[in-house]
This record gives sequence, C-alpha cells and structure tokens, in this order.
Amino acid sequence: MKTAITELFGIQHPIIQGGMHYVGFAEMAAAVSNAGGLGIITGLTQKTPELLAKEIARCRDMTDKPIGVNLTFLPTFSSPPYPEYIAAIKEGGVKVVETAGRSPEQYMPALKAAGIKVIHKCTSVRHSLKAEKIGCDAVSVDGFECGGHPGEDDIPNMILLPRAADELKIPFVASGGMADARSLVAVLAMGAAGMNMGTRFIATKEAPVHPNVKKALVEASELDTVLVMRALRNTERVLKNKGVDQLLEIEREKGATLKIDDIHDQVAGVYLKVMVEGDMEAGAWSCGMVVGLINDIPTVKELIDRIMAEAEQIIRQRLTGFLDGSVGTKPARAVA
Ligand SMILES: Cc1cc2nc3c(=O)[nH]c(=O)nc-3n(C[C@H](O)[C@H](O)[C@H](O)COP(=O)(O)O)c2cc1C
Repeated sequence: MKTAITELFGIQHPIIQGGMHYVGFAEMAAAVSNAGGLGIITGLTQKTPELLAKEIARCRDMTDKPIGVNLTFLPTFSSPPYPEYIAAIKEGGVKVVETAGRSPEQYMPALKAAGIKVIHKCTSVRHSLKAEKIGCDAVSVDGFECGGHPGEDDIPNMILLPRAADELKIPFVASGGMADARSLVAVLAMGAAGMNMGTRFIATKEAPVHPNVKKALVEASELDTVLVMRALRNTERVLKNKGVDQLLEIEREKGATLKIDDIHDQVAGVYLKVMVEGDMEAGAWSCGMVVGLINDIPTVKELIDRIMAEAEQIIRQRLTGFLDGSVGTKPARAVA
C-alpha cells in the first residue's frame, strides 16, 4: 500500500508504532521497522542523551530500515536536556522524530537543520494546524480513545479525523483506538494516510515488557481504562488497578486543589514496576480503550502482515462488494 506517509518516511506499510515509555526500546522499534512499519524509540525512557545514543546504536544493529525517536515535552518531575537528546538523534543518523506534548516549535530549527522529518502527535485540529505552520512534515492525530494523554477536548477520532482532513495540508496518521485492518481502512476513508498504534503493539511477542503486562492487555476489556489527572490538566488514560483506585480516591478528596505531589506514589516510578517487574497493581500507566480489541499476542510481523492482508480483503471484497451488490446480505463482520 502506498500513501503520503509511506512515501514521506520510506516505509512499506502505513503503520507507525508510537513512542511508549518503557516499551519503546530498540527491540520494539526494530521489530516494527523490520516488519515494514516505522518503529520508534522512546527518547526519554533513556535517562541521558548518552544512553539514547547507545539505544539508537543497538537498534541500528537490529535493523537497517528507517526508525524514529519520540521526544515528549510533557510536565515531568525533572526537566530533560532536549538539545542534547536532539544531538544524539542527529549523530545516530535517525531521520524521523515523533514529538508530543507541547509544541516542538523551539526545537524545529535544530531538527530541520539535521535533515530530520518531524511528525507531531497532538489531540486537536488547532494544534495540528500549528504543527503544520511551524514546519512539521506530518501530524499524528490522537483521538480521545487513545492510551496516554488525550488532551482536554475529548473529541473522538470519528469526528477529529475528518475535521483534520478538512483543514490540514500536510499528511496525517490516525492515532488512538487503532488495532487492526478495520481501523486502518476506516481511517484511510476518513482522510488519514496511515495509523499510529501504541497499546496494540505492547501485546506482541517482541515487546520488551514483563509477560504480566501482555496478559493483562489480553484479559482487559474496553471498559477497563479510566482518565486520571484531569484536575492537573494533564489527563492520562490508564488501565485500572489498585494503585489507580487509590489515585482516584485522592483526586476525589482533593478536588480542584489537587497537586502532582499528592499523587506522587501512584504515578512516579510506576513504569519500572509495571513494565519491568510485572507489578500490575502499581499505579498509573498509559493504556488505550483499544485494549478491548486485543485478544492475542502475535509477533509484530504477524500483526502487521495480518493487518495489511485483511485491509486489502476489506477494500477489495467488502467495500467493493457493496458497490457491485455482492456482499450486501452478509453479516457486518469486516473480515471473515
Ligand atoms: C504504555 C504507553 C506509554 C506511552 N508513552 C508515551 C510517551 O512516552 N510519549 C508519547 O508521546 N506517547 C506515549 N504513549 C502514547 C502512544 O505513543 C500512542 O500515541 C497511543 O498509545 C495511541 O493510542 P492507542 O494506545 O489507543 O493505540 C504511550 C502509550 C502507552 C500505551
């Protein structure tokens, strides 16, 4: 399949693996890139720019396909040295950066001077237009369904994507709630040039996380995520667990006076406990509603090949079939 996104990034399939804290290590990114998508290393999971340089080199040993690095500009407990991270990305020969959180405007000159293509992930049409204006090459439009930070507008992708298509000139991928061939075909129909998946990629053989995490994703339903930190305007969609119950209780008690320090124990250091140690009750970690569509743990290649094969089947048989009248009476399952 050829789209503006496959052409822009020089990849085979219009599928991106979004940056994920404590998941986007070299193994994850290389598996996605080797399978024909765009794998992304999560910059800030590497505690220093030197460690990021090593992670990029490790990934380079595993794939000769294009890879990206995610740079997230979110409120964190410590302020990372972004220019040094960008230098490590440049020196590692990485040509794609996924930015997220705040606008990357301040860093655009350095990124562009290094010949890096920038795809900015954002949750509204106005932020997408800003990204276009400051010279981003593409946008990842992240709907309310998404795992992680959906912003504060709460617009789901059924509305957000066609709105983005109506306004943007640069290509965009759909992010949030993407799981399978049905997702891909639907978002292509709404104007996207591909899709970005987070949660779905964690439930794969290669995802370098504790097996408990993959098991939890397979067992959870679409009813098992919840929004936290709304009062801080740093809303995050996470998987429910005991630590998250405590967090919600503190949020209820504190109301509008909530401070990040009040929930420090339920948010800080949680990724290490969940992703590395497999402690599934530790607290808040990002997870999308799409978890309700995850029923297996394939290899990344099996997942991507399945998506692309079934997407072709949906387009050629189901959709074309509606036009020529040959599938009109079949049940509404997208793929047999
Ligand atoms: C465990 C996890 C960690 C994430 N960490 C980051 C991150 O550090 N930076 C970022 O920009 N996005 C992060 N995301 C968001 C993903 O890149 C992606 O935008 C999101 O997962 C898409 O929604 P989906 O989960 O419904 O596919 C994370 C998502 C998950 C599930």
